[in-house]
Amino acid sequence: MNEHYYTEEPTSKLVTEQITFRINETELKLTTASGVFSRKKIDLGTKILIENIEIKKNTKVLDLGCGYGIIGISIAKIIPDTKVVLTDANKRATQLAKQNAKQNNVTVDVRTGNSYETVAGETFDYILLNPPQTAGRKICFQLIEHAPQHLNKQGVFYLVARHKKGGAVLEAKMKETFGNAETVARESGFRVYKSTKQKD
Ligand SMILES: C[S@@+](CC[C@H](N)C(=O)[O-])C[C@H]1O[C@@H](n2cnc3c(N)ncnc32)[C@H](O)[C@@H]1O
Repeated sequence: MNEHYYTEEPTSKLVTEQITFRINETELKLTTASGVFSRKKIDLGTKILIENIEIKKNTKVLDLGCGYGIIGISIAKIIPDTKVVLTDANKRATQLAKQNAKQNNVTVDVRTGNSYETVAGETFDYILLNPPQTAGRKICFQLIEHAPQHLNKQGVFYLVARHKKGGAVLEAKMKETFGNAETVARESGFRVYKSTKQKD
C-alpha cells in the first residue's frame, strides 16, 4: 500500500531524525520520523505561520493536523498560560508530538483522530492549520468548514499555504465560511490567512 504523511498507521520502517527550531530566544529540539510530514526540516510554511501569528496569553489553542507537534509545542513554549491541544489522524505523528512535548518541557494535550473528532463539543480561541493539501481539497475544505463550530466568538482561524498552489482556493473557502479572510503575511510564495468568527 502506498503510504503518505497522512496515513493513519504508517507501517514504513521507523527512521527517526533530530531537528532544531529556533524562534526568538527559544530553541526547540524535535524528533521526527519517516511516515510523518516534513521530517528532514521544519516546513517553510510552518515556520512562516509560527513567526506571523498573534496569540494572546491565557487562551485555548488547537493545533489541527499537528504532525510531530512543532506548531503547538512552539506556542506552548513561547506564549504564557496557553492551553494547547494537538490533534492528528496519523498515530506516528501524535506519538512523536507527545515525545517532543516532553523533550521540550511543555505540557500540551495530544490526541489522535480524524479531523475534529477528538475535540467534539470543545471550542478554542485559535485554530492553527498547515493543511494536508496532498490529502486533497475535500479534506482541506472540511477542516475549514467545521472550524467555526470549534471557535469561541471572536476566535481566530489561521491557515498557511502557497498562494498559487491551492492557497487562493483555501482563502476563498475561508471567506465563504467565515464571511471574512485577510492575509497577515506573505513570504516566499506562502501566505498566512486569518479569519475571525463574528457570531455564535
Ligand atoms: C501539512 S501537514 C502539517 C503538519 C504539522 N502541523 C507541521 O506544520 O509540520 C498536515 C497534517 O495533517 C494531518 N492530516 C491529514 N488528514 C487529516 C485528517 N483528516 N484529520 C486530521 N489530521 C489530518 C497529516 O497527518 C499531517 O500531519
